[in-house]
Amino acid sequence: MTNFKNPYLQGLLAPVAEEVTAHDLPVTGHIPSSLRGRYLRIGPNPLGPLGPEDDASYHWFTGDGMVHGIRLRDGRAEWYRNRWVRSQAVAEGLGETWAAGPVVEDFDFSPNTHVIAHAGETYALVEGGARPYRLDYELGTLGPCDFGGTLKGGYPAHTKKDPDSGELHAIGYFFGWEHLEYTVLSASGQIVRSVEIPVLGSPMVHDFALTQKYVVIYDLPITFSMKMVEDGLSLPYAWNPEHSARVGLMPRGGGADDVRWIDIPPCWVFHTLNAYDEGDRVVVDLVSFPSFMHGGRLEGNPPPTLDRWTIDPVAGSIHQETIDDRPQEFPRVDERVVTRPHRYGYTVTAEAIVQNQAGEALMKHDYVKGSSEARLFPAGSGVGEAAFVPSSSSSSDSAEDDGYLMALTFDPGRQATDLVIIASQDFTGEPVATVHLPVRVPLGFHGTWAADRV
Ligand SMILES: [Fe+2]
Repeated sequence: MTNFKNPYLQGLLAPVAEEVTAHDLPVTGHIPSSLRGRYLRIGPNPLGPLGPEDDASYHWFTGDGMVHGIRLRDGRAEWYRNRWVRSQAVAEGLGETWAAGPVVEDFDFSPNTHVIAHAGETYALVEGGARPYRLDYELGTLGPCDFGGTLKGGYPAHTKKDPDSGELHAIGYFFGWEHLEYTVLSASGQIVRSVEIPVLGSPMVHDFALTQKYVVIYDLPITFSMKMVEDGLSLPYAWNPEHSARVGLMPRGGGADDVRWIDIPPCWVFHTLNAYDEGDRVVVDLVSFPSFMHGGRLEGNPPPTLDRWTIDPVAGSIHQETIDDRPQEFPRVDERVVTRPHRYGYTVTAEAIVQNQAGEALMKHDYVKGSSEARLFPAGSGVGEAAFVPSSSSSSDSAEDDGYLMALTFDPGRQATDLVIIASQDFTGEPVATVHLPVRVPLGFHGTWAADRV
């Protein structure tokens, strides 16, 4: 792998070649006994064998998905597993029989972007029109899924779970559609509502926001590019200055005709931190880039900022302000506050300076105090997105930061990855526990704490 020039095949991003199962992992500190379940994280890990053409054309977003899991129980780290998500191509590449199922018009893809638990199932997800894949508890692939025949097309990577109903909201897109597909997946795992929202120009829609009143839709200037198809690039989407940027507010019970579209200056948003209603207005906290993916490239983009958009659907106006101009991404909250006001948000920055030490950091933002804390990791640790886990799953009204953050971070000394478990209320203190995995986990995308169903 070391001979590749492609930055997404090197260093902490280099794919791993083996599937590993390891039991009884060494732990520094003490894993809280309330943590009973799996920490799951997914990312691209092209199966290979990779050749010169891959070096030239590989795009980080299109690598075959590999899911990593660490099972915790009774204060022990019982196992680590990593498994490719077996799309037809991956299964055949591994010399296995594909677990056939309902793919969309022969559009099958090994999901690499998010892994979630819902309705007793584990789903690997990717956007752009492919179907989810169901995984078993030990991360084996069960096959592609259309939620029991209720999903018309593909399903995206980012979803929002309404904490009141347990329903999962999502907005899917596909280059062949002239609409976005808003769906509501019931707590028992069937699509129970679907709205086609017309859009022009086949925009990429990575995430959205949800409040108790509204679905917030981002229609921004990264669009499908036929030129990039003709050029043979594996991800045919690019910054398109001719595509107007706008935000849509759709009432939760409304239809496409009810969407209130508001034009905004060009920008790009991968991720929402959270959103809520404030009187008649809508507050959306998110990370935005001034622009992104010129020519489809992930390098050379202007840095992102942590922003707040306050939207007035009556006046048709939007107020945009920067909360923190230090570059950061992967925003998360305690998911008990999704759709309602939050006090805390967590992000990752690769350019932190704490007490004159440079490195990478997890950030904890306090939106009430207007302050933030940075928890530094050594440069080169590639600390990833932090998932928040309440300290007690039975306590729905405990403090918003009464719980743990879990993230993967590379230990250069061991040349392997750790799972760090941090008490949010002691954000810069010693980790509660550090689980030492036997191997390196390549930098990836999103993760979840999937508590065991007792
Ligand atoms: Fe994402």
